[in-house]
Amino acid sequence: MSVPVLLDVDTGIDDSLALLYAVASPEIDLLGASCVAGNVPLDAVVSNTAAVLDLAGRCDVETAPGCDRPMARPLKTTPETHGPTGTGHAMPAASPDRSSERSGIDLVIDTARSRPGEVTLVALGPLTNVAVALDREPRLLTLLDRLVIMGGCFGVAGNTAPRTEWNTHVDPEAARAVFAAAGRGACNLPLVMPLDVTEQARLLPHHVARMAEIGGESMEFLDPLLAGPEAGRLMSFITDALRFYMEFHQRYDGFYGAFVHDPFAVAAAVDPSLVTTVETTVDVETAGELTTGETVADFRDSWGRPPNAAVAVAARADVFLERLVVRLGGLLRSRP
Ligand code: BDR
Ligand code: CA
Repeated sequence: MSVPVLLDVDTGIDDSLALLYAVASPEIDLLGASCVAGNVPLDAVVSNTAAVLDLAGRCDVETAPGCDRPMARPLKTTPETHGPTGTGHAMPAASPDRSSERSGIDLVIDTARSRPGEVTLVALGPLTNVAVALDREPRLLTLLDRLVIMGGCFGVAGNTAPRTEWNTHVDPEAARAVFAAAGRGACNLPLVMPLDVTEQARLLPHHVARMAEIGGESMEFLDPLLAGPEAGRLMSFITDALRFYMEFHQRYDGFYGAFVHDPFAVAAAVDPSLVTTVETTVDVETAGELTTGETVADFRDSWGRPPNAAVAVAARADVFLERLVVRLGGLLRSRP
C-alpha cells in the first residue's frame, strides 16, 4: 500500500531531487506540492516545482503557492547554493502556468482534513507554510499521520551560520511555532532530519554515472563543455542542476559532490528503518546574538517538558543513496 504524501518545497536543487524521488517511488502517492519562499523567491519556487514535475511526467500534481516571506523577517535566498533561478546550470523549459488556484496553505489544510490520520507532510524548506497552516487549523498535526521536517542541526556545525541550518535560519519563528505546537498536541511526534544525518548522504559523480547507466543515458556530466541545456530532457536537467550543486560543495565543503538533504528526508518519511531516532524536546533560538535559528534539543531532559520531536541521530545513508540512484535511474529510463 502506498503512503499519501504532501511535499512542502522551496525548490531548490535538492528539493528537485526530492520531487523526482517521490515520483519514482512506488510506495509514495504524491498528493501535491505546496511551495514556500526560501532557496529562491516564491514565484521561482512555483515555476521550478511545476517544471520538475512536468519533466517527470507528473503535470497532474497540484503545485500551490504558499507564503512568499518568513513570518517575522525579510526573506533571504541563496543563489550561491542553488543558482540564480534555483536549478543551478539547468534551465528547465517554462511549463505553462499551472500554479494552483488554491494556496499552499489551503492545500495542506484541505488535504489533511479530507484524509484524517493518513497524510504524511514532508517539509523541505523554511517552516513558514506549516506554521501559518497551524495557525489557521490548530488540529493540523493530529489530522496528519505525521509531519517530517528537514531542518536543524544538533551535534554538527550549521551550514548557514556556525550553529544554524538554512531552513531554520530563514524562518526561526515559524520553526519555533511548529515545535511548540507539536509539544501541545496528541500527535505522532514529528520526525526531524537534521544536518547530522542528511550530511551523511553525499551524492558523488560515480552515483550519477550509475544513475545514467541505469537510465540508458551517457554520462557527460563532469565535462561542462559536453554538458549543456537540452530543453525537455530529464537527464540534462539532473546533470546541469547537480553540476552547479557539486561546484558549490567543492567551494564550501571541500568535496566535489553534493549533500542530498531533501530526498533523504522523503525517503526516511516512508521508510523509518533508514534512521535511528531519539524522542526529545526541541526549541528554536529566535533572539540570540550569535545563534538565531539554532535548534536546541534537550537530550538530557533539563527542561522537563514533554517530547515534541523524534530526532534522527543515525542513518543508513548508503542504503538511501543506492535507492536514490536506482529509482532516479529507473525514472530516466521511463522519461528520457
Ligand atoms: C536545506 O537548505 C536548503 O538549501 C536545501 O534545499 C535543504 O532543504 C539544507 O540545509
Ligand atoms: Ca529545501
